[in-house]
Amino acid sequence: MHNRRAALASIAGAASLALALTACGQNSEGGSKEKSGDAKGATIGIAMPTKSSERWINDGNNVVKDLQAKGYKTKLVYGEDDPETQVSQIENLITQGVKGLIIAAIDNKSLNSVLQQAEDANIPVISYDRLILGTKNVDYYASFDNEKVGRLQGTYIVNKLGLDKGAKGPFNIELFAGSNDDNNTKYFFGGAMKVLQPYIDKKQLVVKSGQTRLTQVVTLRWDGTTAQKRMEDILTSSYKSGRVDAVLSPYDGISIGILSALKSDGYGSGSKPLPVITGQDAELASVKSIISGQQTQTVYKDLRKLAEVAATMMDESLKGKKPEVNDTKTYDNGAKVVPAYLLQPVSVDKSNYRKVLVDGGYYTESQLK
Ligand code: GAL
Repeated sequence: MHNRRAALASIAGAASLALALTACGQNSEGGSKEKSGDAKGATIGIAMPTKSSERWINDGNNVVKDLQAKGYKTKLVYGEDDPETQVSQIENLITQGVKGLIIAAIDNKSLNSVLQQAEDANIPVISYDRLILGTKNVDYYASFDNEKVGRLQGTYIVNKLGLDKGAKGPFNIELFAGSNDDNNTKYFFGGAMKVLQPYIDKKQLVVKSGQTRLTQVVTLRWDGTTAQKRMEDILTSSYKSGRVDAVLSPYDGISIGILSALKSDGYGSGSKPLPVITGQDAELASVKSIISGQQTQTVYKDLRKLAEVAATMMDESLKGKKPEVNDTKTYDNGAKVVPAYLLQPVSVDKSNYRKVLVDGGYYTESQLK
């Protein structure tokens, strides 16, 4: 990191010298181009995990748009949820001479050697939404308060079942978590369990499958079909009697899979109402599902803001400035605490989707029909 810092400092130094020499720092086009030094017009590589989920398609497009608005060129790649593909894509971006990297990792522990190559080439790296682990060669982290995402999901279940208002239960709940190679997974699950565990301890919430440990409930690569299969197995083995009242789901794609399993088992018709089902990302299919009374909740994360934060971090890093961060404690990646800017997630259900998502300009009313 020192090489780059020194290089950036000298660019900044050269820039201020140039500024002093050109009277008031205006160039012939009227802008102050000196500060941007060699960053102006540089190409930034963006590595996203998969096109199989709508959110990452939006993330990619948003980051490209924001960087282009700041005068950068971009190269955007998607790793098809395959860690090795992503590593070689990032290697290619470095070989092609990108000046910065914004990465949403597939497997957070697979990038050490390729990020050493980035470091050797003095390329700043921003970890996008998912923290990259085990390497010093990550400069900044742009994400949401991930623990709060989980707390919002857990709290929603508690409120919806009325446990906070004196309902005694017991209610049956099943637990799902995200991919075990994604650092966010433990924050989401940990946040949710902080809220749910006391009720499990008091037996007001009962996990009939007995699967409560993170290792038992993870869903590799956040795959909806994998979650559907697990829910089917749980229904067959643990619900010969009784019914599921709530499902903790960490992500909309998983919620949709869980819903399919439940509906095939007769939930949502007759005497078996659908359970409370949480989610995350406010993906279009899930918001529609919420409106039609199937999925119950999602956690909305304004991806437009996330892209803006990441693009600004990159721009400022390349200009030798210090990007704004609001968390310098939480995100220890095993090699360093990565300075982070965390945005706030918002719980969304049928009662507030219009206010949050439509009035907030995230979706138009007609998209939700
Ligand atoms: C996580 C991300 C979630 C969700 C999930 C599956 O890393 O924070 O918002 O998108 O991946 O893609």
